Amino acid sequence: MKNLDNYNVERKKILLRVDLNVPVVDKIITEKSRIETIKKTIKILQQQKNKIFLISHFGRPKGNQNKKYSLKFLCSILEFEFQVAKVEFLDNIDDFSIQKKMNNMQYGDICLFENIRFYHEEENNDSNFIKEICKNFDVFINDAFSASHRNHASIVGPSKFLPCLAGPNLIEEIKNIDSFINQSKKPSLAIIGGSKISTKIKLLFNLIKLSDKIVIGGAMANTFLFALKNNIGQSLVEKDLAQVALSVLQKSKDSNCEIILPIDVMCANSIRDITNISNYDVNLIPSSMMALDVGMETIKLIKHSILRSKMILWNGPLGAFEYSPFDESSIQISNFIKKNAKKLNISTLAGGGDTVSAIKLSKAEEGFDYMSNAGGAFLEWLEGKGSPGVNALKENKIN
Ligand code: 3PG
Ligand code: MG
Repeated sequence: MKNLDNYNVERKKILLRVDLNVPVVDKIITEKSRIETIKKTIKILQQQKNKIFLISHFGRPKGNQNKKYSLKFLCSILEFEFQVAKVEFLDNIDDFSIQKKMNNMQYGDICLFENIRFYHEEENNDSNFIKEICKNFDVFINDAFSASHRNHASIVGPSKFLPCLAGPNLIEEIKNIDSFINQSKKPSLAIIGGSKISTKIKLLFNLIKLSDKIVIGGAMANTFLFALKNNIGQSLVEKDLAQVALSVLQKSKDSNCEIILPIDVMCANSIRDITNISNYDVNLIPSSMMALDVGMETIKLIKHSILRSKMILWNGPLGAFEYSPFDESSIQISNFIKKNAKKLNISTLAGGGDTVSAIKLSKAEEGFDYMSNAGGAFLEWLEGKGSPGVNALKENKIN
């Protein structure tokens, strides 16, 4: 793949695909790693005196100009993060607007486009749509590994019209994830949490082949508990996937991969009503309560498994970690990995926005060889599906 080390970009008009789909609560960005990781790219491009246009999606506005999903609020944040006086903003993508902005910018200046998903052509992967944008640029750089699993116009489209480069962050993501996968040290442990089994079915089946042991936590564990005929009270569950959960268990048996499900859970009346929190054995969850974190005995079980592993892959928090005290297990496990990974020479990889947030909340970053800021793209890469965005970079023949 062409990249900033083997392709000269100086005084060029650059279309830079980034992933500014950052988590925001009450207008505050709760996790900034997607901004952190592109700083280096911006710096190189600025030093080489390019005009830089950032293109990104934000949320899922489904082709509508919905101000709730505007990227405008990010300009001042990016000015601060990139340490620049001004980040321009452009809410139109027609030639006239782009050229006018371009002409008013100095080399080294940065402009942010409005959310590209305001146009339905983006998700429809409309070739003419991206061609019109590309006309105004010399080079396309994809530094959004975390969005490269999407077959969308601003990810795969430019490869037909411009020289396309892999950005430093995209290269770093691939290098680190691949180097973890290729180690194949044993025994290997996968810790998989999050709320939905539906988004992780393929991953689970794939991990069964690759791992010696899989811990299943988060709300997705409820579907397994339900399938095994436990009364899970008011807990979040995907009942229609009970059969899939059972086939995951059967497949793991056939493949000699041990699955660890919660043996106890921390319950409350609801996520916001924490007046009545108790730890219950999974057989004894009261009908009026819901499981919101794995319980104390399960945490011990997971720690025990960690100490016996040489490789640990973690995706998905083990409980509803955004709501204290249901962050307890994720914090304890983060800290336990931090304490033991280097000492016991355990290779560790974490991925997914929430997982990274939980690890940062625990200040346990140093326990991990690498933390990917990709969610869905991370899972699909682990599933061995490759990535449309990366394929487009590889196939790009324009110099
Ligand atoms: C993500 O947050 O995983 C990426 O930005 C992709 O977003 P999407 O799942 O809405 O396509
Ligand atoms: Mg997502």
